[in-house]
Amino acid sequence: MFEIKNKIILAEDIKRLDVYAPDIAAKSLPGQFVSICPEEGDERIPLTVIDSDFNKGMISIIFRECGSTTKKLGKFSIGEKVSSILGPLGLPARIESKGLIVCIATDMGTAQILPICRAHRKAGCKVIGIIGAKTKRQLLLEAQMRLSCDKLHVRTEDGSYVKRGVATDVLKSILQEKKVDLVYVIGSIEFMQSVVSISKKQKIKTRVQLKPVMVDCMGMCGACRVKVGGEMVLACCDGPEFDGHKVDFDDFSLRQKAFEEAGTCQNSKSPFSRKNGGAGILTKLFSDIIEK
Ligand SMILES: Cc1cc2nc3c(=O)[nH]c(=O)nc-3n(C[C@H](O)[C@H](O)[C@H](O)COP(=O)(O)OP(=O)(O)OC[C@H]3O[C@@H](n4cnc5c(N)ncnc54)[C@H](O)[C@@H]3O)c2cc1C
Ligand code: FES
Repeated sequence: MFEIKNKIILAEDIKRLDVYAPDIAAKSLPGQFVSICPEEGDERIPLTVIDSDFNKGMISIIFRECGSTTKKLGKFSIGEKVSSILGPLGLPARIESKGLIVCIATDMGTAQILPICRAHRKAGCKVIGIIGAKTKRQLLLEAQMRLSCDKLHVRTEDGSYVKRGVATDVLKSILQEKKVDLVYVIGSIEFMQSVVSISKKQKIKTRVQLKPVMVDCMGMCGACRVKVGGEMVLACCDGPEFDGHKVDFDDFSLRQKAFEEAGTCQNSKSPFSRKNGGAGILTKLFSDIIEK
């Protein structure tokens, strides 16, 4: 059991939990994630470790309440205990020790890119952050991003805060003005794809974090297969960080849609649900998708 030591409500549906998990805090590196099961018998879901404090034995997670498991997790209070947390999982992010890095994110990607910004800056890189949202209300973690980057650009699509615009426009102008060594992007599939298409034209190394639907998070079910550099790899073991120029985003998008249509995520009563066990069923579903 893992005790919740602190809870912060970042927005109506976005929560941060600081959980006492000393073994995970001791090993966790930026870019890794945990698999959480709120109560016995619930689904397990993957969530990025946003921060870990070795001395206090704490890890922090930030999540949007979008379905049954995240909604249940959001109801936990300080002092209550989460049934199970496995981790750290996935490969740690590769952190550069010098150069100019642009970290760009929207939506929940902003929370997940925070440890990447911090680690690059700590290692000696100059970090420019770009965050964007539709409106001011949807903008996340601006203060934390300011502390983690040398410079932060903020854009809102409706102009309700700072400057009207989209994050990718800021990226385009930075790439024209400065010699950037690495672009790091986390966000929706469409957003990452558009960032990669901009950076690819200028041949700038780009890393992405892929978040496919995961079931066991341990390389056994095959649910998280993604095509990178023409090969099928597993995001839970070989990622979640990949070379953005090599990711087949069209294939990735197709697979995510196939899972959603099969009811993998939304409905825990579905036979394809992570809760109902799906590893075997998912493997079958995936073989069907691959054969198609
Ligand atoms: C490695 C990894 C790290 C992640 N880190 C975070 C994080 O730090 N914070 C956070 O809020 N979320 C994160 N996610 C996504 C999170 O795991 C899902 O939102 C969660 O599993 C949803 O579970 P649920 O039961 O609440 O909702 P469900 O009922 O399972 O789904 C609700 C909605 O969310 C969508 N969804 C489910 N899983 C995913 C997914 N993997 N990617 C995109 N959409 C999905 C579904 O299509 C559906 O529309 C991460 C995913 C991965 C693979
Ligand atoms: S979630 Fe990656 S193989 Fe099962």
